[in-house]
Amino acid sequence: QKGVASALLVDKGNYRHFMAKEIHEQPEVIAHTIAHYADLAERRVDIPNLAVDLASLERVTLCGCGTAFYAGLVAKYWFEQYARLPVEIDVASEFRYREAPLPENGLAIFISQSGETADTLAGLRYCREQRQHIASIVNVQHSSIARESDVVLPTLAGPEIGVASTKAFTCQLAVLACLAIAAGKARGHIDDALEHELVGALVELPRLISRVLREEQGFADIAHQLSHAQDMLYLGRGVNYPLALEGALKLKEISYIHAEGFAAGELKHGAIALIDENVPVVVIAPPGRTHEKTMSNMQEVAARGGKIVLLTGESGGAPDCEVMADCRLPDVHEFVSPILYALPVQLLAYHTAVWRGTDVDQPRNLAKSVTVE
Ligand code: G6P
Repeated sequence: QKGVASALLVDKGNYRHFMAKEIHEQPEVIAHTIAHYADLAERRVDIPNLAVDLASLERVTLCGCGTAFYAGLVAKYWFEQYARLPVEIDVASEFRYREAPLPENGLAIFISQSGETADTLAGLRYCREQRQHIASIVNVQHSSIARESDVVLPTLAGPEIGVASTKAFTCQLAVLACLAIAAGKARGHIDDALEHELVGALVELPRLISRVLREEQGFADIAHQLSHAQDMLYLGRGVNYPLALEGALKLKEISYIHAEGFAAGELKHGAIALIDENVPVVVIAPPGRTHEKTMSNMQEVAARGGKIVLLTGESGGAPDCEVMADCRLPDVHEFVSPILYALPVQLLAYHTAVWRGTDVDQPRNLAKSVTVE
């Protein structure tokens, strides 16, 4: 209902769907969000009103549903690697009933575009009972989750109407990235030079995202081939593993093609049995620490006839196996790669759905905001 109300106030501009418009708004809204949490000229993070001592935290709890949960999963890698901060993360529908023991004076962060998701709100209330400090990352600032939080860290994505989340997701990642840098600093694992480098990587993102958007037609052409598939797989590693899960979710939601995301190294423990010449496999492999390993997983897929869509960077080496598509994104700092690589994942799902003629903005059986259990 809330989606419908806002839809009356927000139009699609020259776009065919809200989802397309929202994908294209990302350079602007991400820049906006980053500017709220960082001093761009000084290249320093500055989280307003956090009121939490990040240095003394034993652990942080992250919780959300769907795409918001996957943003949290990316953040788990960031908090662990850059802040040496242990992370507990779960989908809200499980977390709310687990009776998880939580550290005294702990920090719990709830991630939600709408701020109204019933399970996420219930998880928040559990943490309130457990006397946790409650922060929320929400896009709708006058929402139930925001109201019940000690600290609200808004995403400045503007109204998101398309049921499949796009710009809210990348803005959630931008906030979490700033928070991870702040935690790393407070805990003595990020010095001034590294802070400068990581904030610099964030500042560069809007320009790089615009470059990816200029290649949209290429992704639409690949999507034409994908639109005939019945099943698809997504592979990623490390900080880009959650993006494989998000890619599969996005595709399922709007194109109704069955898709699954896997940690690339886990494929051989079962899912590789699914691969044949009818199964396209999107391999998310930005240059960086895990690039080589992911490329060798890709060869295992190629050897079994899987049709590969490779998403990598300009400096990533040539694949030494046959691929259906070799997509080169601008080179980007590994830290922010999940934000840039969200773009091709969104564009592939969007155009596949458009080729199949589904109702992109209002997919069957789904709601923008799930306010019942
Ligand atoms: C619904 C939407 C998803 C969204 C999830 C969580 O299932 O269809 O796109 O990721 O809820 O929503 P929230 O508003 O809490 O981020």
